Amino acid sequence: MIIAVDGPVAAGKGTLAKRIAAKYGYKYLDTGALYRAVGLFMLRHEQDPSDHALAAAAARNVHEISLDDPDLRKEETGNAASVVAVNNDVRAALLDYQRSVAKHRDGAVLDGRDIGTVVCPDADVKLFVTASSEERAHRRLAELVAKGETTSYEAVLKDLEERDARDRSRTSAPLAKADDAHLLDTTKLDIEAALEAACRIIDASKG
Ligand code: CDP
Repeated sequence: MIIAVDGPVAAGKGTLAKRIAAKYGYKYLDTGALYRAVGLFMLRHEQDPSDHALAAAAARNVHEISLDDPDLRKEETGNAASVVAVNNDVRAALLDYQRSVAKHRDGAVLDGRDIGTVVCPDADVKLFVTASSEERAHRRLAELVAKGETTSYEAVLKDLEERDARDRSRTSAPLAKADDAHLLDTTKLDIEAALEAACRIIDASKG
């Protein structure tokens, strides 16, 4: 069983995907963390994330960054991640690992931008999770403030809209809803309600 969860910045994909994985006993992979790790690697080595060759090399050395590193969650790292994510060679370097997790024998839930379209086009269930930009900016601001980052609602909203535009307009695996994905708008749903809606879709697909 493979469940693909895609959507724009701070739509609640991660929390939802983690809860789905816990509920059904599936393996969980946050694919955004891989792109964030490439971005963080470059920031730490004072490299420009838009440098194609350096970003490709960073993707090959990404194991140097722990996927538990707290700096992965910084806004600056998210922005660097979306810059390296336009790079075809970076995406190719991360693909095999994502597909190997998807094949986990217990089942897997992967969240990202291109899981239903590119990484796992044959996923059993595809969810495309969205929420209004304003709601997403409020949620991301609360997360960042809780982690001690000092930023403003306006700055978070601007970053989020820029990142979404970059993710949607890139030529390689752009952020897009797969034709067979279920749209889940969480603007007015809390996590429990979103989980309930997702589980209804998953259970229906299991027959
Ligand atoms: O948590 P948030 O929604 O801020 O982003 P994320 O899922 O951690 O992803 C960070 C960035 O990585 C995104 O803005 C995308 O540019 C990129 N990404 C991607 O291109 N493909 C994926 N499957 C996952 C993330």
